Amino acid sequence: MADQTKITLARLAEMKRAGTPISMLTAYDASMAAVFDDAGIDCILVGDSLGNVIQGRDSTVPVTVDQMVYHVECVRRGTRRAMLIGDMPFLSYSSEAVAIETARSLMQAGAEMVKLEGGISVLDIVGRLSGLGVPVCGHLGLTPQSVHKLSGYRVQARAPEARKQLLEDAAALERAGCAMLVLECIPRLLAAEVAANLAIPVIGIGAGARVDGQVLVSYDALGIGNGRRPRFVRDFMLGSASMNAAVHAFIEAVRNRRFPTDEESYADPA
Ligand code: KIV
Repeated sequence: MADQTKITLARLAEMKRAGTPISMLTAYDASMAAVFDDAGIDCILVGDSLGNVIQGRDSTVPVTVDQMVYHVECVRRGTRRAMLIGDMPFLSYSSEAVAIETARSLMQAGAEMVKLEGGISVLDIVGRLSGLGVPVCGHLGLTPQSVHKLSGYRVQARAPEARKQLLEDAAALERAGCAMLVLECIPRLLAAEVAANLAIPVIGIGAGARVDGQVLVSYDALGIGNGRRPRFVRDFMLGSASMNAAVHAFIEAVRNRRFPTDEESYADPA
């Protein structure tokens, strides 16, 4: 039976200090959340990726706060041990007042932390939310809510200037009060440098193995869907007899740093 101790911010900080990799999967409903929670996942993210995998859209841009609240409420009912994180959707943190209202809705629906995308432009909002007692997770690299500005989903921070900017953004988010940071789709040595520089846990998706934990969209990790699979996705159903076994395999692979391999991540430019 998995460890039943509730995952808190203090526990996540302790895991970072001890070098124990943190496992995170997305969930959008109570039943799947319960499977992940029972298996011993550390964090469950109600991602705005629900726009893609639940609603069948081609970006997260159309996802609304009300939809996020509904799914956070559902996931809350299936989650006991894991830390529950709720995404703040597109333009729901465009000013401090709007961000406070969104965070209130998500936390009252059952989230224990909120996640938002961006660097320098969101520092004041991170500081304000954190000052009001809301744990905040940052998100840098490929930020899907900016897909139209980024001209598509592709690896980020390869050019020297962009690498420097990402390192500065990460440090600034920590100083502003972020309790955790997600790095998506960036070269693995750059991600390792960010994780080494910061005291807060740094969770990667397409960011290599040398960070403090890994997150995957659960539908990708469970082989659901037949779209083009990014290189950082592993289908944990392959070789697993059940969804439960696949989730255990994911948690084990993260804990033992057997996921991702170099082939499942991006090399730094020479
Ligand atoms: O929305 C989401 O699922 C996410 C993960 C990809 C980190 O932000």
